[in-house]
Amino acid sequence: MLANLLEGKRGIIFGALDENSIAWKVAEQANEAGAMFVLTNAPVAMRMGAIQKLAEKCGSEVIPADATNMEDLENLFTKSEEILGGKLDFVLHSIGMSINVRKGKHYTDLNHDWMAKGWDISAASFHRVMQTAYKLDSMAEWGSIVALTYMAAQRTFPDYSDMADNKAYLESIARSFGYHFGKNKNVRVNTISQSPTPTTAGSGVKGFDGFISYADKMSPLGNATADDCAAYVVSLFSDLTRKVTMQNLYHDGGFSNMGVSDAVMQQFVDEDK
Ligand SMILES: NC(=O)c1ccc[n+]([C@@H]2O[C@H](COP(=O)([O-])OP(=O)(O)OC[C@H]3O[C@@H](n4cnc5c(N)ncnc54)[C@H](O)[C@@H]3O)[C@@H](O)[C@H]2O)c1
Repeated sequence: MLANLLEGKRGIIFGALDENSIAWKVAEQANEAGAMFVLTNAPVAMRMGAIQKLAEKCGSEVIPADATNMEDLENLFTKSEEILGGKLDFVLHSIGMSINVRKGKHYTDLNHDWMAKGWDISAASFHRVMQTAYKLDSMAEWGSIVALTYMAAQRTFPDYSDMADNKAYLESIARSFGYHFGKNKNVRVNTISQSPTPTTAGSGVKGFDGFISYADKMSPLGNATADDCAAYVVSLFSDLTRKVTMQNLYHDGGFSNMGVSDAVMQQFVDEDK
């Protein structure tokens, strides 16, 4: 990690549930790079208590906020500016949940109330977060907003179910809001499309173990870990990437541009013998 890369920068990190969370690794690395930030998660996630350990380690305060609740978000942004002593240089949206995936509902048999709830949590919340920051004028000039996504937004991964549609919507919001945030506030907005990663959200997808190993065999550089992802997020928060905006950035060891790899082919050759 480049020491001091985020010296003097202030931010909010959503979504650190436990030490496997991608947001947890981002918080650790942003702290090492000199940033100050507020940690937040849904009130229900606080009950597990792990976030307090992270907060102590990073010298951060924790403000609970349900990312689908505008009052919670207004309180979060207002208080964060007060606590950190100025406007924000970065925001990480690391939030995702599908009730249909969690309950094993097949894509051809979705519960549409759950679909709407999952969409609100996983996609619309990104608009809610940015609209709050925009209206309160909470972002500093040349600030950076990042959300995490997955390649099922572009290609079909059947077991990813309605999360694929949520991610497509999320990526579109990044482009649409990225225009307004760029034009009017000089703030950039990007999504990072990350490799499958063993976290609570990731492991909830059916067949995850087989899939993570398939992705690893397909990717010339192997899967990107949560720590790798955190390093990439830190680079996007830094002043080294000030003109990168409205992009969906693949961070997947090359997976997204592969057709087939020798390692995967070999398995079929062996099977045919
Ligand atoms: N794990 C993977 O394989 C993978 C791959 C690509 C992208 N992603 C994305 O990375 C992001 C982070 O997920 P993760 O893998 O670290 O898993 P995780 O389960 O650790 O994090 C998901 C977070 O969303 C939070 N959340 C859920 N509902 C919320 C609400 N209403 N308000 C606020 N927060 C809420 C949870 O409390 C949790 O902290 C998600 O957007 C996920 O889709 C994950």
